[in-house]
Amino acid sequence: MQVLDAIQRRYSVRGYTEEKLTKSELDALLTAGLMAPTATNRQEIHFTVLDGSSDIVKEIETERIGVNVSAPVNFYYNAPTVILLSAEAAFGWSEVDAGIAVENIALAAEGMGLGSVIIGCIKGALNGDKKEYFAKKLAFPKGYEFKIAIAVGHKNAEKAPHNYNFEKSVSII
Ligand SMILES: Cc1cc2nc3c(=O)[nH]c(=O)nc-3n(C[C@H](O)[C@H](O)[C@H](O)COP(=O)(O)O)c2cc1C
Repeated sequence: MQVLDAIQRRYSVRGYTEEKLTKSELDALLTAGLMAPTATNRQEIHFTVLDGSSDIVKEIETERIGVNVSAPVNFYYNAPTVILLSAEAAFGWSEVDAGIAVENIALAAEGMGLGSVIIGCIKGALNGDKKEYFAKKLAFPKGYEFKIAIAVGHKNAEKAPHNYNFEKSVSII
């Protein structure tokens, strides 16, 4: 699939089949994340891969509910794989770098015929009172904190990509 096709066809998938990703699919997604540009080529993004049925995913979900951030079903929509992106808390570009990397993964997933949804709703749970506990459990490197996540799997829900208002959002001077 061409890149522009993948950009136009991608939408947030909020339902997945039980089919697991293959190792080569997961490798391709992680490569897409690792190949993302980073400010000053710092390559500070760390990727933590979780199985959707694992205890730690359930623990994150319980904590999310505890901090009262709403999400229908559960935060990962029963996807078979969840990738958490963490980065150096002290590096000023890490949020931007994580955003670029997660979109690279989303577009790679679309190009491979998979679905994905970017997940921010667990930020309060992972960076709150239990920040140190989760950082350790999720193998974040020292000084790192959660930035963004993405759930990936085989699509079992469909919706149209979002609309946009070109005139409102663009100024060509
Ligand atoms: C930073 C960020 C955080 C997001 N967090 C969530 C989330 O926690 N749960 C969710 O269902 N969707 C989440 N989304 C997906 C957006 O809701 C979605 O991209 C937006 O509604 C546009 O729809 P589309 O992706 O289908 O085009 C997030 C997207 C971004 C960029």
